[in-house]
Amino acid sequence: MNVHAGALAKAHDFDEQTSAFARDVIDDLSQHPKRLSPKYFYDAKGSELFEAITRLPEYYPTRTELGILQERAGEISAIVPDGAALVEFGAGATNKVRLLLNRCAVGAYVPVDISGDFLNAQADALRRDFPALDVYPVAADFTQRFALPGAVAAMPKVGFFPGSTLGNFEPHEACAFLRSACAILGRGAQMVIGVDLEKDQGVLYQAYNDAAGVTARFNLNLLDRINRELGGNFDTSEYRHRAIYNSERHRIEMHLISTKAQKVRVLDRSFSFRPGESIHTENSYKYSLGRFTALVHGSGWTHRESWTDAERMFSVHALVAEFEPTAVLWSGVPFKALDPSPDA
Ligand code: AVI
Repeated sequence: MNVHAGALAKAHDFDEQTSAFARDVIDDLSQHPKRLSPKYFYDAKGSELFEAITRLPEYYPTRTELGILQERAGEISAIVPDGAALVEFGAGATNKVRLLLNRCAVGAYVPVDISGDFLNAQADALRRDFPALDVYPVAADFTQRFALPGAVAAMPKVGFFPGSTLGNFEPHEACAFLRSACAILGRGAQMVIGVDLEKDQGVLYQAYNDAAGVTARFNLNLLDRINRELGGNFDTSEYRHRAIYNSERHRIEMHLISTKAQKVRVLDRSFSFRPGESIHTENSYKYSLGRFTALVHGSGWTHRESWTDAERMFSVHALVAEFEPTAVLWSGVPFKALDPSPDA
């Protein structure tokens, strides 16, 4: 960590979350190439823009995943034991988890998210519509180990991680997340996880470069957020959204490109930009079925089943926690080496 940035955050009397934001922004803009973490997209405005993205005609993942969950509801709900604690990693729109709650005799629902506001809004809406359901929100960073509420200790566990948020992790982080989820949920737990698939590059390009410019606004909101919360002076009209597919690394990359030479201040630090210089803001990895299965193998889970839509745009997987994850060491295999077959 950049100690100077930490001291700066303290000097500005920020709360814990804003201090972490300040530290990360200053550290990340000091890197070559510059970057910003996608976890900071989701302030109130960013979350609103993301909801708008999920309704765009070009952005196929949300409606395709929802279609798979609806079409395969019988098979998917069959893996949820009666009385299970359903643990959702990340809180957002509740429409996907409602599909499971409507069909399964779930004992308790445990949404886990770093943002207390989202969690509470989600929990309240579900309590209203499922009055008999016990809801135990956990405010935690779900990429780190956290403790489940004592009330669900004796229940069978089912993890739920829809939306292909796994794709926003680097492959080694995705593996670390799966291992951590395995340790938290315990041996014998089930997991239902949504994963976006590799496909025609034109389709991928359009999904992240929509005609209405909503994804561009979502990306640029990160600079607005720095201006709002950290007193930065980014002129957002002088940055352009760029999303490209990196076929070698199987990922969409989002960048913000400086249109000219310019200097920006954030807290008491100044950052210089060359014309055309990028801030790398997000990766969204796209998996083949084979590459995802290979990733799962190193993580303590066994792959049980997968479902896709007819066009193989998106996939939903069922996993079982077969091993004690402490006994499984990640092999450190680079992402490209995970490609076991041209399957898929
Ligand atoms: C949340 N996540 C899975 C989205 C994605 O597709 O990677 C975030 C997003 N970024 C731009 N559009 C949507």
